[in-house]
Amino acid sequence: MKGEENMPLVPAACLLKHAQKNAYAVPAFNFHDLVDLQAIITAAQAEAAPVILMASEGTIRFAGFSYIEGLASAAAREAKIPFALHLDHGRELDNIVKSVRHGFTSVMFDGSHLAFDENIRLTSWVVDVAHRVGISVEGELGQIPGAEDDISVSAKEAGMTDPGLVAEYVEKTGVDALAVAIGTAHGLYKGEPKLDFPRLEAIRQMTSVPLVLHGGTGVPDATVRQAISLGICKLNVGTDLRLAYTGSISLALREQEIHDPRPLLGIAKEAVIEVVRDKIRLCGASNKAHAI
Ligand code: 13P
Repeated sequence: MKGEENMPLVPAACLLKHAQKNAYAVPAFNFHDLVDLQAIITAAQAEAAPVILMASEGTIRFAGFSYIEGLASAAAREAKIPFALHLDHGRELDNIVKSVRHGFTSVMFDGSHLAFDENIRLTSWVVDVAHRVGISVEGELGQIPGAEDDISVSAKEAGMTDPGLVAEYVEKTGVDALAVAIGTAHGLYKGEPKLDFPRLEAIRQMTSVPLVLHGGTGVPDATVRQAISLGICKLNVGTDLRLAYTGSISLALREQEIHDPRPLLGIAKEAVIEVVRDKIRLCGASNKAHAI
């Protein structure tokens, strides 16, 4: 894109294609309010990296579409890096349509809990609507365990992505990106997560669509790097940012009495910036912004 001018809110597909071609992943971060949104954009600018801002259905209930749209458009005026505004784990078709109307440049339709044919049917509908207005769509095959806001998938319900279904799903739906279940989970891990790399390689053989790894919190750096080398183009991280946000506030309040939210939220913002910069570097996304 261009030198020092502001960079627009772009479709996620535009960022993911560049990442795929240049063997890195675009880091995607869940945000909830002005504090963590500013932290993500500040960190991305410091690293000159593209990023994806993700709002879940829980965040939309908390903040409302209008405020999220307002925050993202303010960021688009201020930011000098390209970024996308993405609906994370959209299950309600209502929320997909509202995202399209409220300036989102990417939506995930999570039909992973549905029967295969129904997942294809509804995801195709979402792709049809979103593509008419240039918005990217992420689909999901297999089910990622753990809790992401109010979507909770038990280990029993969870199922890894079947490589044998990937080509048909991608071809029939026309998705721009595919979230895969290969051993990560949303939230905190009890032990060290073991990723099924042969499965990831088999999925990669079946499609050239950019692949997405959810549950980025707590995955060892070497494992993330290997996943990226095998075709992961988007890394989702949420819990790590929430822990930095709330943990830094709890610590500050234990150490001193603070009655003004601004210094307190400033401490939280700095803590989130650190985590985001770390993940950007891990993804190999630093200094990629101006080449897109
Ligand atoms: P974590 O909260 O485990 O980092 O996962 C985030 C995520 O995958 C959002 O879709």
